Amino acid sequence: MNRNHRQVFSLLYAIVLTLLSASSFAQDPETGNPELDTQAWLRYPHLDWPASTAYEQLSGRVVLLGDSVVLKAAQQELMRGVSQMLGRPLTSSASATGGSGVILGTLAAIRSLSPKLRPPNNLESDGYWLTWAKIRGSECLLIVGGSDRGVLYGTFTLLSKIARGESIAKTNELQNPSAPIRWVNQWDNLDGHIERGYGGRSIFFDAGRVRDDLSRAGEYARLLASVGINGCTINNVNANPAALEDNFIVQVRRIADAFRPWGVQVAMSVDLSSPKVVGAANLGTAGSAVQPAQRAGAPLDGFDPLDPRVAEWWQKKVDYIYTQIPDFAGFVVKADSEGRSGPSAYGRTHADAANVIARALKPHGGVVFYRAFVYNHHLDWRNLKNDRARAAYENLHPLDGEFADNAIVQIKNGPIDFQVREPVSPLFAGLRHTNQAIELQITQEYTGQQKQLCFLVPLWKEVLDFDMRIDDKSTLVKDLVSGRVFHRPVGGYAGVANVGLDANWLGSPMAMANLYGFGRLAWNPNLSSETIVDEWTRLTFGSDPLLVQTVKQLQLDSWPVYESYTGNLGVGTLTNITGNHYDAGPQSSEENGWGQWHRADRNGIGMDRTVATGTGFIGQYPPEVQTRYESLAACPDNLLLFFHHVPYSYVLHSGRTLIQHFYDAHYEGAERAAGFITQWKKLQGHIDEGQYRNILARFEFQAGEAIKWRDAICNWIYGLSGIADQKGRVGNQASAVR
Ligand code: GCU
Repeated sequence: MNRNHRQVFSLLYAIVLTLLSASSFAQDPETGNPELDTQAWLRYPHLDWPASTAYEQLSGRVVLLGDSVVLKAAQQELMRGVSQMLGRPLTSSASATGGSGVILGTLAAIRSLSPKLRPPNNLESDGYWLTWAKIRGSECLLIVGGSDRGVLYGTFTLLSKIARGESIAKTNELQNPSAPIRWVNQWDNLDGHIERGYGGRSIFFDAGRVRDDLSRAGEYARLLASVGINGCTINNVNANPAALEDNFIVQVRRIADAFRPWGVQVAMSVDLSSPKVVGAANLGTAGSAVQPAQRAGAPLDGFDPLDPRVAEWWQKKVDYIYTQIPDFAGFVVKADSEGRSGPSAYGRTHADAANVIARALKPHGGVVFYRAFVYNHHLDWRNLKNDRARAAYENLHPLDGEFADNAIVQIKNGPIDFQVREPVSPLFAGLRHTNQAIELQITQEYTGQQKQLCFLVPLWKEVLDFDMRIDDKSTLVKDLVSGRVFHRPVGGYAGVANVGLDANWLGSPMAMANLYGFGRLAWNPNLSSETIVDEWTRLTFGSDPLLVQTVKQLQLDSWPVYESYTGNLGVGTLTNITGNHYDAGPQSSEENGWGQWHRADRNGIGMDRTVATGTGFIGQYPPEVQTRYESLAACPDNLLLFFHHVPYSYVLHSGRTLIQHFYDAHYEGAERAAGFITQWKKLQGHIDEGQYRNILARFEFQAGEAIKWRDAICNWIYGLSGIADQKGRVGNQASAVR
């Protein structure tokens, strides 16, 4: 093909893709099969003979030892799942005598039937043990929990095994969660809009009130429980103080009621200025339905965390919450960040701010998450020593040891903001005497907003498996956040989920692998990405071998592909950071105070964060990690531009020049995105037709978007550097013809 033909072909291709995708989305923005999408990975499809014969041991009786709402939910889930999958109903029985069956209960309860029963390992509170045992002379399958919630988790695991065709004939499996905190954060506003949400409006709120119909909230809690999530903050971290009005808390109580059977505890985001503004007559942002406080009394004239009146205010507020929601989990606080109020207003520390709230929660068993996402978004971009990446560590590390034992510092995985690739936040290694949790983003804010496929579990795994080499010893991030390394009482995981009212929850059926994967990793970060996606695929779509193989490959390829046609070599996502965080917009990072700088100019690109000549950020890591990143020779290519400013002619470890790598990566990425369509098309007839068509339309759309990204970034960097693409593509592609 000569250049003219190539141009015409490329132009037609881009037009066809855009038309195809635009038409599918215009006509059917929801999905092809809302029912299947809503069920997500909890479909429990009927197993045909002979597959179902493998489960003949599951006899007709279920015995429940206890009557809490959580235990009852476990029993009902078991009955529902078994009858749907195996086509024979289980009946509930009050007595453990009288033949084989499934027995559900805590270890203490089951021991009352069989005092000699000993689990193979220590069974922790949320843990479970699935085993066969003779009870009163009959062989029974036991679902033993360290708590009622453990029984529920064991039940979901059993059902997952059946749905995936795994044998349970000799099951003897004890599992404990990796960490006590396994929460999702929802960024829902009280008016029903979700910040960075791509799956429709809030399942909790509308027009300043809690929705009357909370059935979706209950279904959400069921999905969360099935992967071991035990807490959910329901409102935006940019918290509307009106959420703490007493008559709003009364409404939140209904959400807690909907969650409770599934062992998911409600938590809320709060604004530090609440003592000053909650109860004020003009607090109208949540809508007229929220009236001034009935009980909190008059608002104070300030919110200084060291003012005893402020401490008293928090205590009264928290006491009131627990009268309404006895199992309330706690608060999340975003302070002194992106315009939020904070302790700096009174010259107080973040520990002061966290502790005044922590003390109020302590008698009730609640916890407060204090977010480490604290930075100045008015940094002077002309000063080459300024660096937003340093902010979390500089703000929180000096306070290590000053936080209450029920306060947890919540740290985003990277030092900037959920970019397509960032190094691990050094703060994970900077807190030895403080509880910590990792914050991961399930909602794909910077990674295609669920319009494009980007399976994030491999990204999260890289972070969790990263070795910080504290004191020159192996120190994996997953062991720091679980609290294991420094023997902290609590720690764990917070995932920003942002599901909405769309049938498929996240706005895309394939994106649900991220929600599933987050829960599975929080439960067990040692699971591989392959295992997680294999489970998810079988549960969501079934076990047809071609289907499992294809979906797994698509998911596993998707992050590297997205990275290669957006921002590679650690430069940041290169999206429009002052606008939608979705389209290409590399220049938006520069010449403003937000600090997502890449410093691209006519000579080179990248942030010099070295100790020797740069911002010094690298100095925040333990020495061995510092050495790796400080030296150009040792720094991995995929983070090169995060740590170093280099000329475009710089030769990478791969042997290619930086600029040629950029061009090649973008072209290869766009080509591979187009290849997703071909792979997906093999699945017609192997998957529900509605889902097939919906996902196909998404891949067609993504292929068009990848071309747009490729051209925008390649033209931008060509314009800056003036260095031509060795393969003659850049500047010659049809979509670049103006
Ligand atoms: C990002 C995101 C904001 C969010 C913030 C946070 O900057 O774009 O919407 O409020 O993170 O995590 O607090």
